[in-house]
Amino acid sequence: MSTPHSRVFDERSEALLAQLERDGLMKRLRMIEGPMDATVKIRGVGECICFCSNNYLGLANHPEVVEAALKGTRDFGAGTASVRFICGTFTPHETLENLLARYMGTQAAYTFVSCWNANEAILPTLCEPGDTIISDELNHASIIDSVRLATVIKKGVNKALYKNNTLEGPNSLAEALDKAKANKGQVWVITDGVFSMEGSIANLPRMRALCDEYGAMLIVDDSHAHGVMGVRGRGTHEHYGMVDELRGLPALPPTVVAPQPDAGRIDLFTGTLGKALGGAAGGFVAGSKRAIELLIQRGRPTLFSNALPASVACSATAAIEILLREPERVARLRSNVDYARRRIKDAGFDVLESPTAICPIIVHDTAKAIRMSQRLLELGVFVIGFGFPVVPEGHARLRCQISAAHTTQHIDALVDALRKL
Ligand SMILES: Cc1ncc(COP(=O)(O)O)c(C=O)c1O
Repeated sequence: MSTPHSRVFDERSEALLAQLERDGLMKRLRMIEGPMDATVKIRGVGECICFCSNNYLGLANHPEVVEAALKGTRDFGAGTASVRFICGTFTPHETLENLLARYMGTQAAYTFVSCWNANEAILPTLCEPGDTIISDELNHASIIDSVRLATVIKKGVNKALYKNNTLEGPNSLAEALDKAKANKGQVWVITDGVFSMEGSIANLPRMRALCDEYGAMLIVDDSHAHGVMGVRGRGTHEHYGMVDELRGLPALPPTVVAPQPDAGRIDLFTGTLGKALGGAAGGFVAGSKRAIELLIQRGRPTLFSNALPASVACSATAAIEILLREPERVARLRSNVDYARRRIKDAGFDVLESPTAICPIIVHDTAKAIRMSQRLLELGVFVIGFGFPVVPEGHARLRCQISAAHTTQHIDALVDALRKL
């Protein structure tokens, strides 16, 4: 029932929701009745094999990770009841941040309640008027919003976009870097390491070389690469051999791509703790001590918002320790990914090629993608169809996400269900 003062909003929201319904774009929340794992129980549907979570290493329901969260809650209570700089920094934050810095190969790291928050903090805090931010057009929504926010909060920050993964030629990173020479401030280049809808990876060695040529800082959001890319699952930089071997851990066979010592490093990373690294929640920035200190001192999402609960810091720490102790999990994920891509292709589907755990099957039409995902669920396979506006018109897809928790039987069941469509 509308009250006089809410009439405008009520009519507008009714119209917007009706439009979403007519366009077939209304999202229905599915109730999961147990933990996230290779299979999940969906209310009203039953047990299904899950191919749409970011639980890449199967750690979300690992007994050690769950126990760490329980112990964290017992020892430190439900939460901090404070922002970090007042009285919300607990010892599990320090433990996790030291481990994250070591895992990423950086001087320091700092956690946030989400990677959305980490991305929202990084550009508006570190950029100053006269700076230029250059962003890949397919970067995650949180980066897009961070760029917008930086230009609003710091008047005089410039922005430019380049075509996805296009480093040279028209609409490229090189072109944007060249134009940015006209501005006197710092140039920042920001990219996803693994693009979440394509499953493709950024060419970090070439980007590093270009950034060096133009004196630009390189920021990589590696949310879909942590636990996935590189022999130890340290991210896209490890995949390219752009990070040192971890000190104090057993040596491993050479990384997938031979180390390129002259490729240099990534200046700053952001990442999530809500995908491979335990799946709970939380995000982080990793980089130089001075950048982290500026975020602690001046980052609005950390100055004015509660800290990550200590229980989550404990469960994420346990997840990263397991990842570093058991690189065979990453190897298992990689062989599952290779097997799934090969079998999906053999079944006659158009799957985008890459070494990541994201296997998008392009079906073009949005309504078709949604119908296919509904039919797959009836067949006991949980895969989401994405269409416009999440991906460009005509590029609708089923996005299959592979996990180390899947068995070959799970992947065979996915392919059998796809064949039945
Ligand atoms: C590339 C990328 N960055 C950031 C995020 C946000 O992460 P979080 O869920 O921790 O806010 C996501 C999550 O979908 C992502 O895919």
